[in-house]
Amino acid sequence: MHFTINGTSYDADPDIRTSLLDLCREHLGLTGSKKGCDHGQCGACTMLVNGRRINSCLSLAVMHQDDEITTIEGLGTPDDLHALQSAFVRHDGYQCGYCTPGQICSAVGMLDEVRKGWASHVTGDLDAPRFDNEEISERMSGNLCRCAAYPNIVDAIREVAEAEGVVDVALRHKAEAGA
Ligand code: FES
Ligand code: FES
Repeated sequence: MHFTINGTSYDADPDIRTSLLDLCREHLGLTGSKKGCDHGQCGACTMLVNGRRINSCLSLAVMHQDDEITTIEGLGTPDDLHALQSAFVRHDGYQCGYCTPGQICSAVGMLDEVRKGWASHVTGDLDAPRFDNEEISERMSGNLCRCAAYPNIVDAIREVAEAEGVVDVALRHKAEAGA
């Protein structure tokens, strides 16, 4: 099978029972994504598949022929951090760091969902979207942090969302769709 992960081509022949998480960690040496629960409960294994966030422990590798997969290793490098990675550092958005790769991959996918105008469980008015701490907490509720760095994680994500004007992008998309 052929996989594209972080822009690099990989050929592998995983057992049909191998999860995408295990393919990356155990077979391809990409250990940035973490295994917390292996049951879809914690979000530590979050990756982006064709731009959408998924729990890679719940997805079989054989389902991802030719998909574009991004793990934390593909978002930034120590010399050139992704905006969310920098924000997590600035805001102290981690303690042990075990959940952090999943938090950051999830936040990348989540901000894209906001740009597209997708509602969350706590979204009130779709004509006047907001992006406050309640929205961030709800949209990131699939990513647990046993160190409880939540307030700083929320601050880091909000800073990036505001800098990138994600709500403005959502409103622009909505206006264009209605035009
Ligand atoms: S390891 Fe996948 S959700 Fe916990
Ligand atoms: S920083 Fe330790 S689990 Fe989140």
